[in-house]
Amino acid sequence: MQAPACSAPQPSLHDAQGRAIAYLRVALTDRCNFRCTYCSPSDNEPPEGLLTRPELARLFALFASAGVRRIRLTGGEPTLRRDVVEIVRDAAATPGIEDVALTTNGHRLDELVGPLLEAGLGSLNVSLDTLVPEKLPGVSGRGARLDRILAGIDAAAGRFRSLKLNTVVMRGVNEDELAALVRHAWDRGALPRFIEQMPFTGGEVVPLAEVRARLVAAGFSLRPDPFRGWGPARHVRATEPGGREGLIGLIGAMTENFCEDCNRARVAADGGFQACLGGTERLSLRDLMRGGAPDAALALAVRGALLRKAPRHRMDEAGSGLVLLPMRGIGG
Ligand code: 5AD
Ligand code: SF4
Repeated sequence: MQAPACSAPQPSLHDAQGRAIAYLRVALTDRCNFRCTYCSPSDNEPPEGLLTRPELARLFALFASAGVRRIRLTGGEPTLRRDVVEIVRDAAATPGIEDVALTTNGHRLDELVGPLLEAGLGSLNVSLDTLVPEKLPGVSGRGARLDRILAGIDAAAGRFRSLKLNTVVMRGVNEDELAALVRHAWDRGALPRFIEQMPFTGGEVVPLAEVRARLVAAGFSLRPDPFRGWGPARHVRATEPGGREGLIGLIGAMTENFCEDCNRARVAADGGFQACLGGTERLSLRDLMRGGAPDAALALAVRGALLRKAPRHRMDEAGSGLVLLPMRGIGG
């Protein structure tokens, strides 16, 4: 399918704080074949169904015409959708889109690397929480197989513009593996990233300060590095005892609030537009589209939701009484 013709260019999207929205995260499904303890994937798709491939392509064009330059496909697990490669192709063919990225748990990656590259995928994030096979079922459920994830990462190594390995740091689970995870990533030309766990399902936050201290204790020397990707990660330039140097990404979702330079918005698998990850408002773009709304009405609704977006999320405020929408539908 051809991507729909570019909608007429519109003024770029801004939120209430004047933050420009250049980055759209789109969940392709709610479901997942893993059961990560920090996430809560669904067994069912939304009752009215997922956004279809043409609906997704329409949204890609609409957001691109309003200044979005990068699209990340997430989930649930986006590769569970049979048309994932075609959706990547549509996103990559959308005028104005400079980079298409995908976040995956790696289970189907080995077989998908070739087709995804050919479809135009530029950036790939793979979740890798442990290198110890026996630990994985406790973290990601019985469906997860470390050999498949590692084979997928090896198949992807060196082939994308950007390859990142994401680790949610979990107390008593993987805080002893940080150095090994850094080396595993560097050996494959990938960027290791450590993420503070957000409290969607409870769990104790291991602060980034501790992550840094543990890397130093393992012999790495760390210097802040100005490198910024598209997202909230801050980076350190690290040197191992042997002299090898590389970057490490640190995402302090809880202790180092990153909202100030938020440049993103999200569309959930059911077409719910969410201006803030920690927000509780969702606007159903699916219902609008299926109700026959023209692009101008969709754009107006999106602008309205962005203007109601809070200056920052409040997930770190204990007892705020905030009921968060589950992570799975918004894909991080
Ligand atoms: N906290 C932090 N990151 C999370 N992810 C999912 N749930 C959470 C959470 N509660 C991120 C992880 C995972 C990706 C799919 O989404 O990085 O690898
Ligand atoms: Fe699936 Fe990713 Fe959630 Fe794990 S974090 S259960 S791999 S969607």
